[in-house]
Amino acid sequence: MFTQRTYCGEVSDSQSGERIQLGGWVDKKRDLGGIIFLELRDVSGIVQIVIDSSRSPDIAAIAETVRNEFCLRVEGTVRRRSAETVNPSLATGALEVEADYIEVLNSSLTPPFPLDTRNSINEELRLQYRYLDLRREEMRETILARHRATQVIRRYLSANRFIEIETPILNKSTPEGARDFLVPSRISRGMFYALPQSPQLFKQILMVSGFDRYFQVVKCFRDEDLRNDRQPEFTQVDLELSFVTRETVIGVIEGLIAEMLRATIGLEVELPFPRISYDEAMTRYGKDAPDTRFGLELVDCGDIFKGASFNVFSAALASGGIIKCLPVPDDGAISRKMADDYTEYVKTFRAKGLPYVRYREGDFEGGISKFLSESERMALSKKLDLKGVMIVFFGSDREGIVNDTLANLRLKIGRDLNLIDESRFNFLWVLDFPLLEYDEEERRYYAKHHMFTAPREEHVALLDTLTPENINTIKAQAYDIVLNGVEIGGGSIRIHNTDVQKKMFEVLGISEEDAKIKFSFLLEALKYGAPPHGGIALGLDRIIMLLLRRNSIRDVIPFPKTQKGQCMMSDAPSPVSPAQLRELYIKVVDK
Ligand code: AMO
Repeated sequence: MFTQRTYCGEVSDSQSGERIQLGGWVDKKRDLGGIIFLELRDVSGIVQIVIDSSRSPDIAAIAETVRNEFCLRVEGTVRRRSAETVNPSLATGALEVEADYIEVLNSSLTPPFPLDTRNSINEELRLQYRYLDLRREEMRETILARHRATQVIRRYLSANRFIEIETPILNKSTPEGARDFLVPSRISRGMFYALPQSPQLFKQILMVSGFDRYFQVVKCFRDEDLRNDRQPEFTQVDLELSFVTRETVIGVIEGLIAEMLRATIGLEVELPFPRISYDEAMTRYGKDAPDTRFGLELVDCGDIFKGASFNVFSAALASGGIIKCLPVPDDGAISRKMADDYTEYVKTFRAKGLPYVRYREGDFEGGISKFLSESERMALSKKLDLKGVMIVFFGSDREGIVNDTLANLRLKIGRDLNLIDESRFNFLWVLDFPLLEYDEEERRYYAKHHMFTAPREEHVALLDTLTPENINTIKAQAYDIVLNGVEIGGGSIRIHNTDVQKKMFEVLGISEEDAKIKFSFLLEALKYGAPPHGGIALGLDRIIMLLLRRNSIRDVIPFPKTQKGQCMMSDAPSPVSPAQLRELYIKVVDK
């Protein structure tokens, strides 16, 4: 029906005087009596259509019946607008198309929310009518940026000798890390597939097969509690490389990210990205994915309070805990009420309280100042380099609780005092992670990254003398990449030696039999000349969310799930028929 369609947003000055064909949706309509203006929109943007009723009464009659979101075919002649009617906010704002043919291809109901706004619209409504939401400029921009990013990823990685290989979606369940989504098998009664949490095992197998550089833009599935940066199905840019060190992986990713930034938001980024060790990140920021766009660093002050008379501090140290401070130069901006609110806030992170003192030109006042001895005050001023007017918050508890509390408080204060430079993109490599962590309640070790991550070569032997106390001395060849305080990717050099892999299973409390049931194919494969290898996976949704400055991961996924894991548009998940359940030998029981 269209012989040669022009895209609305691409109507150009060089087409002035030319007759063109357009297809799109009515974004706005203005009827000025004799003249009707329609703004016609398609995936590329908007162009203004003019209908002059004195010259084309038949077309004007059709245009009069048209409402927002009607789908139209329009033909007409491109012309320049007069200087005073140019619309600088439109790419085609200096032009218009004088219509000589309009056909209503389809009418439309009135949308349940305005499509020409960036203002906040009820999210549930947007998700329910996602097909309309995706017509909005903001969403269109996002989807197009995402498309550009994936094209660049494919181009860049192909140019660097990576081969795109698909790995299966119906897999064996290996319940480690997050919870699996399970798929019952009809053919094998009582058996289940699991959807992949990542293609980890398959990409390692591909290294054994000799495809020495693999990549995939791949959906992954994790049955986790959802947050603004977490979806049950999300996309990884997954990579694996043979015969490489950490530095090769880092170099490839830095080049890739630079290309992605250029393609999505036209930004040149400075390489290489800064690096920090896990230990330093925990000491200075209390978390392994620090936001480095602002200062406010934590300082360990355990040494100052060794003989403290303030019993909250002495009790924390006596029970093996730590004391850290968060000094905030606030010029008195943090009121008593705010400090009280922060005390409430930190309870979310299991802190029992939030002691603080104010510092004003050499004097300590308020909060717990009356409990501080003269020598403690002097040591504190020196260590924290106190100057002017400041408030100092204290965390004293088990190390994990103190870090969690002060890391979150740091971010909250950063936001409350507007200290975060939102124009920045701060990338950061976090290196030298510990290989393991210890769960005190379950009294067992967990892999910090995953159980296929290699320890540093010189630390392998230490696995034999592992205790919960020396756990941090065994470092992994693992690395994370962080953008503005959000983990956007993680990877490691892998274990390619069967004995070391077995040792790792043993440390993690996975019996030889269990390891055989779950991973025998990997353990077997490692015996057939597995090359040294390593890789990484980037969270594509998170990266796009941050680059486009969207607040939620849902805003960069075409059809996302709500916090409750539902698709508002299709109503998934939903009940299935008794016949379907029977076929799968599944019975739903009451609670
Ligand atoms: P990891 O589990 O760290 O590593 O995942 C890699 C990256 O994927 C993103 N991500 C998510 N994004 C959205 N929603 C989620 N639920 C979600 N979970 C993770 C994060 C994260 O950094 N196989 C390893 C990679 C490797 O070792 O090569 C893995 O999956 O941005």
